[in-house]
Amino acid sequence: MRLGVVTSGGDAPGMNAAIRSIVRCAIPRGAEVIGIRRGYAGLITNQTVPLTLRSVGSILQYGGTILYTSRCPEFQTQEGVEKGAEVLKSRKIDGLIVIGGEGSAKGALRLEDVSGVPCICIPATIDNDIYGTDETIGFDTAVNTAVNAIDKIRDTAVSHERVFVVEVMGRNRGFLALQVGLATGAAIILLPEIAFELKDVCRKIESFAERGKVTSIIVAAEGIGNTNEVVSCIERETEYEVRLSKLGYIQRGGSPTARSRLLADLFGAHAVELILSGERNKMVGIEGRTIIATDLQEAVSKMKPLDTGLYRLAEDLAV
Ligand code: F6P
Repeated sequence: MRLGVVTSGGDAPGMNAAIRSIVRCAIPRGAEVIGIRRGYAGLITNQTVPLTLRSVGSILQYGGTILYTSRCPEFQTQEGVEKGAEVLKSRKIDGLIVIGGEGSAKGALRLEDVSGVPCICIPATIDNDIYGTDETIGFDTAVNTAVNAIDKIRDTAVSHERVFVVEVMGRNRGFLALQVGLATGAAIILLPEIAFELKDVCRKIESFAERGKVTSIIVAAEGIGNTNEVVSCIERETEYEVRLSKLGYIQRGGSPTARSRLLADLFGAHAVELILSGERNKMVGIEGRTIIATDLQEAVSKMKPLDTGLYRLAEDLAV
């Protein structure tokens, strides 16, 4: 069997560990592994590299992806997918493992439909917004990166008795912001999933101040919209000086944590097992401590629920 591996969409720390796991589980079982470079854009343009047991050595500790990645608008069109299917056929690839987020999984579904080549997806995104898995590759690393950054921000926030709004990534969902907010003791967490009024945010800040809190950290998910408005509202409505810190792309990079690597090892191994045993159209994942597989159509069409218990706990702990 000739297996293709592609990393697609936003990179996530642990993608390299997943590539290594796939190669080292597949080759000893008689498969050949071809890396497709630069995501679906590289698939369409036939950019490949052979992957061997040795060529994936010493990569698991690095963030990013040795295969490179891209966002590929062309792959959202029928023509784009047909080009991709043609390349799979001409390169005699008879199974594809896609490592990426939700958009990449949707692409895999279209590709499988047009090409008939079995696809298995591995969820990798710092956003952790994929249905069918408690956690995605890279999420834990991003949480830790953001927590370390906010601990530093807190030093200056406390010294100046300022309010800080810290924007963390999460285009549509607040999983990252929620865990980061809880782990850093944020006074307020703003998420796209939970409606809020800016005037209530200001009132809360004031009531914290009345209770002797000299500083407040507000962790806001990118998906809530314009965080500058949160800053201006608090400056207008309270006595506080407010600063905005957007953590940005540092959250996507860096060496993966042990947890992100372990997840990558387990997901890679399971994806190989599935594809070599003739499975198709699946997304691997973890539920509790068990590695599972969800139907790909279900994974891309269902919305992963946010743990509102965690949100309430964060509220209880902020006094
Ligand atoms: O990887 C997911 C994500 O980090 C989102 O949270 C963010 O909105 C997006 O990627 C930005 O990525 P890019 O600029 O690469 O499109």
